[in-house]
Amino acid sequence: MKTENTTKFIIKGLGGKKTLNGKIEVSGAKNAVLPALASSILFKDKFCISNVPDIKDVENINILLERLGASIEKKQGKKYCIDTNNIKLTNLDTEISKKMRGSIVLAGPTLARFGKVSFPYPGGCVIGTRPIDAFLNGFKKMGARVKIEKDIYTVSVSKGKKLKGANVFFDRVTVTGTETLMLAGVVAEGKTILKNSAMEPEIKDIADFLNSCGAKIKGAGTSTIEITGTGGKLLSAKNKIYKTMPDRIEAGSFLILGALTGDNLEIINCNPEHIRILINILKKSGVPIKEGKNKIIIEGNGKLKNKNFKCVDIITHEYPGFPTDLQSPMVVYLTQVNGQSLVFETIFEGRLNYTNELIEMGADIIMWDPHRIMVKGPTQLKGRELSGPDLRAEFAFFISAIIAKGESVINNVRYIDRGYEQIEKRLKNIGVDIVRIKN
Ligand code: EPU
Repeated sequence: MKTENTTKFIIKGLGGKKTLNGKIEVSGAKNAVLPALASSILFKDKFCISNVPDIKDVENINILLERLGASIEKKQGKKYCIDTNNIKLTNLDTEISKKMRGSIVLAGPTLARFGKVSFPYPGGCVIGTRPIDAFLNGFKKMGARVKIEKDIYTVSVSKGKKLKGANVFFDRVTVTGTETLMLAGVVAEGKTILKNSAMEPEIKDIADFLNSCGAKIKGAGTSTIEITGTGGKLLSAKNKIYKTMPDRIEAGSFLILGALTGDNLEIINCNPEHIRILINILKKSGVPIKEGKNKIIIEGNGKLKNKNFKCVDIITHEYPGFPTDLQSPMVVYLTQVNGQSLVFETIFEGRLNYTNELIEMGADIIMWDPHRIMVKGPTQLKGRELSGPDLRAEFAFFISAIIAKGESVINNVRYIDRGYEQIEKRLKNIGVDIVRIKN
């Protein structure tokens, strides 16, 4: 993937017209592929995975695995096979781990298989403090010691001992925390019970696959997950391939884009059930949406005026509630529809800061406190230079640039390339005037 030399996108806005047409395909889910790749450490033979999106986060987690000693084969057609049998090291690369929060998921299986792991405080999008106490508490409950030296966390069990199953109650629902401890529990000794777990579909998807390979996980996709550890016996994926599920956040982002700018648009290769709340809200607001098994269709939308769509209040919530990752695209939607909407971001305290840039474009948004804003619509947005503070807000800027009058320049391309594969190609296909400017 050649993205290092690219610096920005230029988008010519539609100025309120609704002309996007055709099909836009959803890629494999970033937040499913990361724990899936991390789970390769639990296997005694090759772990193969298909429908892998060509994004920077995948490149980075593969580098992390390779630096531990894993061999990775890239096969034809978005497929990778990973062999973790030659892993000798247990320290996650500092520089890469600091680039992505998802890196910490590797800590669970590494600790469970090798009895030791070290990692720096993980990085990622700037959306809040993003503590790791839930991970550390879980590891400790499972019998590990945690040492912190020069900003590096080293977690280990005594020589000859195994990680032990434990009862863990998450004080905050955490997605990567649930994934990390679930993966650790798979080859630990005894039973692990995770309560107040995250219920995101990515967690159930990977658990189902691991079960088909010898793991004993019950309840993934609910708030209580029970894992009976194999006591060190590794899983086997002989003749099985994990197919990455479609990215529900990408599907939702395209749906919001379609609602505002699409005439007849099909979002294909997605699971509408995974964004039930968004579909219901947009339908209630007036967007003409039809659903197929693996697609969402917006039909005859060009003749409807956005200013006649109704305002809606949004409260972000863990799955199956309104995803925090769709909050920023949804705010752009609300700037275009009729009336005042309250948006309450309950998960991350820094995830509304991007709204300053929307205000500069002409949006009428009042920030009440770091978690709550009031959006008043409709407003005509004007193109300008934008820099997204995180992956999802950056895509929200793409949407605002597409609806705006005039041209916008979007910087910080590194965020979009972390999570959206070949975004300009897919947007161009449906009629967006977008170019990537290289250095
Ligand atoms: N939290 C704690 N302590 C912890 C862990 C989390 O207090 O040890 C708090 C966080 O501060 C936050 C809340 O719990 O307030 C939820 O955080 P969570 O741990 O669920 O977030 P995450 O696992 O770090 C994943 C996704 C994010 C997505 C969130 C919420 C991955 C790699 N990342 O993050 O995705 O926003 O869940 O759904 O799966 C993105 O894709 O752009 C993205 C940021």
